[in-house]
Amino acid sequence: MISKILTVNHIKGNAMKLSKDTQKTQKPYSRRSFIAASAGIGSLSLSANLGLAETITSSMRPISVEELHGWGEVPGVADIGDNENPFGPSPRALRAINERIMDVNRYDFGSYRKLETAVGEHLNLAKEEVNFPPGRARFAASGYPVYVEGGSSFILSQIAMIYGVKNGAGEIIEIDPGYAGVSRAAMSFRARFGTEIEIKNVPATTELKHDLGAMLKAISDKTTLIVITNPNNPTGTILPYDEIRRFVDAVPENIMVLIDEAYIHFVREENYQTAVKLSQEYKNVIVTRTFSKMYGMAGLRVGYAVGHKSIMSELRAAGNSGGIGSINCYAAIAALKDTAFVRHVKRLTNASKDYFYQELENLGLSYVPSHSSFVMVNVNQNGQALRQKLLARNIKVRTYGSSIIKNYIRFSIGTLDEMQATVGVLTDEIKG
Ligand SMILES: Cc1ncc(COP(=O)(O)O)c(C=O)c1O
Repeated sequence: MISKILTVNHIKGNAMKLSKDTQKTQKPYSRRSFIAASAGIGSLSLSANLGLAETITSSMRPISVEELHGWGEVPGVADIGDNENPFGPSPRALRAINERIMDVNRYDFGSYRKLETAVGEHLNLAKEEVNFPPGRARFAASGYPVYVEGGSSFILSQIAMIYGVKNGAGEIIEIDPGYAGVSRAAMSFRARFGTEIEIKNVPATTELKHDLGAMLKAISDKTTLIVITNPNNPTGTILPYDEIRRFVDAVPENIMVLIDEAYIHFVREENYQTAVKLSQEYKNVIVTRTFSKMYGMAGLRVGYAVGHKSIMSELRAAGNSGGIGSINCYAAIAALKDTAFVRHVKRLTNASKDYFYQELENLGLSYVPSHSSFVMVNVNQNGQALRQKLLARNIKVRTYGSSIIKNYIRFSIGTLDEMQATVGVLTDEIKG
């Protein structure tokens, strides 16, 4: 039974759930096009995504929040606050968990190495031979310049601790508004250990992008670490690779540059080049990624860093071979290989997002075009106050303390059902 549940293709399940709704006023082409998209066939353009979303929603009766039952969520809630993947994890990851679950009585130090290897191969990184003394080989690193740990938040804290602080002091530069995971960790060291560490927040441009020129100017002789989140959270904006490269070139080598690519898989530009190459060329660049977003495994806590081998060794030494359970490693390995799942999630996310964009335009609300799994919307009023009203009606969204975005709300992109129910409530609250 368990294996049956775990091997059920819930991708199709999602498609069927929507199709069932559409059956009431069925138009044959709408069902077909949705299933084609769900099955991962071909590549849809922006307008095709919108067409898909419109076709589906125009043939659906309006859905209420009470009718929702999202994957991994209690009924009657649209949980679109934490940028989780509403389509669930990869079925292949679930199968890997199922296959390994009986082996958890064993330490499985090799599972780390296997995940590092899978990441190294996935990113086409160069490998070095590693020779461990006989008897210690099970602890051997993979030879790839990769470090895996229990969630990228953990790695961000390690980076704050190891590279944000030098001789008990430091200065971290980060965008406002930004994710601030590194800055939060640094602040907690300051509170707990009296570390003399400062955060310099550099305001985003008017388009809510990183202002790399201003970030360069902000560098002082105290600066230890610069954080670039690309795509940025919460704004969803991206930086072209060449701009990042020029920036890294201009940063002194003794300052670490962290490029957090938690949402990189959602970028909508064709052939977008990631910063992984830079992490292999420069000794002061680290790229981090997570399995919590595109791969739908937030609860399993798996993240990784890539960078110079000496940096990876330092992170590994500080991690003390710690935080990922073996089945989580195997799930992550399987997810990395599930390229059809990635295409599927991207397509459904884009369809939901384009539907949402269209409805925002109908409501006269502006938004920041997003390369991520969330959208920042200018709600033309205090975002925090409106967030409370949405929460009272079981729509969970996110607002930020930054004065730059006090009139904004960040909506994670949910399923079409969730976005449709959200639009219904938002319309009520805005139009009264
Ligand atoms: C930009 C960014 N980095 C890192 C993380 C942390 O991810 P993880 O679940 O791997 O700790 C998040 C989570 O929301 C994020 O938005």
